[in-house]
Amino acid sequence: MTDEKEQGFARGLTNYGDRDFSVYLRRSFAASMGYSQDVLKKPIVGIANSFSGFNSCHRHFLELLEAVKRGVLLGGGLPVEFPTISLGEVYLSPTSLKFRNLMSMDTEEMIRAQPMDAVVLMGGCDKTVPAQLMGAASADLPAVQLVAGPMMTSRHGEERLGACTDCRRFWGKYRAGEVSDDEINHIEGRLATTSGTCAVMGTASTMACIAETLGFSLPGTAAIPAVNADRLRAGEASGLAAARMITDPIKPSQLLTEKSVENALRVLLALGGSTNAIIHLTAIAGRMGIKVSLERMNELSDTTPVLVNLKPVGSAYMEDFFFAGGMGAVLRELKPLLHLDTLSVSGETLGDRLEEDPGYVDRRIIARAEEPLEPQGGLVALFGNLAPRGAILKRSAADERLFEKEGRAVVFTSLADLAARVDDPDLDITEDNFMVLQNAGPKSASGMPEAGYLPIPRKLSSKGVKDMVRISDARMSGTAFGTIVLHVTPESSTGGVLGLVRDGDRIRLSVKEKRIELLVDEAELDRRRAEWVSENEPAEMRRGYDRLYAEQVLQADEGCDFAILQPNGRTGAEKGED
Ligand code: FES
Ligand code: MG
Repeated sequence: MTDEKEQGFARGLTNYGDRDFSVYLRRSFAASMGYSQDVLKKPIVGIANSFSGFNSCHRHFLELLEAVKRGVLLGGGLPVEFPTISLGEVYLSPTSLKFRNLMSMDTEEMIRAQPMDAVVLMGGCDKTVPAQLMGAASADLPAVQLVAGPMMTSRHGEERLGACTDCRRFWGKYRAGEVSDDEINHIEGRLATTSGTCAVMGTASTMACIAETLGFSLPGTAAIPAVNADRLRAGEASGLAAARMITDPIKPSQLLTEKSVENALRVLLALGGSTNAIIHLTAIAGRMGIKVSLERMNELSDTTPVLVNLKPVGSAYMEDFFFAGGMGAVLRELKPLLHLDTLSVSGETLGDRLEEDPGYVDRRIIARAEEPLEPQGGLVALFGNLAPRGAILKRSAADERLFEKEGRAVVFTSLADLAARVDDPDLDITEDNFMVLQNAGPKSASGMPEAGYLPIPRKLSSKGVKDMVRISDARMSGTAFGTIVLHVTPESSTGGVLGLVRDGDRIRLSVKEKRIELLVDEAELDRRRAEWVSENEPAEMRRGYDRLYAEQVLQADEGCDFAILQPNGRTGAEKGED
């Protein structure tokens, strides 16, 4: 009765002390689902399905799932779907990032605990793809990432609308009084009209492109729109690829290497991709013990051109990117900068892939490396006494006129303080000031929300001010834009210098020198440090996941992953954190 090979339902058995009985028992229960005995002997491709009524981006997953199953059957495997947590970006409080690690643990443990020989990961919305890749990396079972694909754009009058850069653009106009109540209500129903992920090069699209670059997704699949029939074909092909990996395994540990991670960084920079992706890539690579250094990112940034003309950096949308040539065209332009011996779940190397005929490329959307949109990468890390372990600025989405500037700090001590005062007509602020937000980092009560895109105070926005220097330990949506310094590390709520900034202090920003300095002398900072008290509720006063998070979450430069999820299980304390 026992299979020679420990695969399919005979894999990883519950130990009742009698192996044959365990197989017998499991097959008996599986037989209750109507499987024939022949089917029960097949190897299994698990399908991690993150469909949820709270995830509008994944609403087509039921149909996509059928295509994946078809592909698995075609490859001789038995497809078995299982649910995991889903993270619908806009529905989660206090912020979706807090639950990314939970989803990664769910994914990892369910891959390991249940009998499967390979797995297809169905995700798409911002945090789901990093969570699945982190989990799959730690489980190290052959895994294919199938992304949801982007939404299609919609229309408002003569303008194209795509979530969610246009959400922000119109909301900004509404705040400035340029758009009426009626118009903003009308636009609300037009911003997101199909299934799929945000229609611009936000976090979801950036992570889809990174998954393809890392080799976890099949070539050419990152940008296929959610509602295009090609997306279903990608589902079928992903199922087939996973089934093939049962006989010819390619494990995440073969995909995730120093070289593939560096390729992914290049791609992130060339896309003008989301700032969140640097945190996620750091966390994914960290599961294999690979460090993403911000100093190295800066070196790559200086030599990687921005090639993709998509919002929020440029003007087009993901569907345009797909029809313009997608990731294949971007990788081909970057070819001289990439490591070509990295692998993909297709079984081919990146070099093999780039031998193929590029096909049509729309140069309005994907520029040649010789004629880039910008000669340098979209992201830059800043260092200095305000951010000893780094901060991130998306220079491609920022106003260059603010790049070399000294300004007076206007400090908001929390999100609540910001909400209470930012639109106060008496707020003492000018467009030359630097807005500073504290207590919005990973260990703060707010859990590092996408609040780094501080709203321009209404008294200034109504005068036409569109951008100001804004500094915080928070994140920013991948669809946002502005001169925004994010992920300041160490964060303010654990004693970082950001927490010591006071109204009226001078801060100096230099993108050229990659510096961010608080111009307050050390003696004064020491005095403030001695008086400083953390606003964080002590971890031991919390319970459940909230407590686990407070105790375990690492800083942004370590991907905000958990210390216990690192390959060697090191702790934050061992790393010299508090
Ligand atoms: Fe799901 Fe933007 S809300 S990708
Ligand atoms: Mg987003």
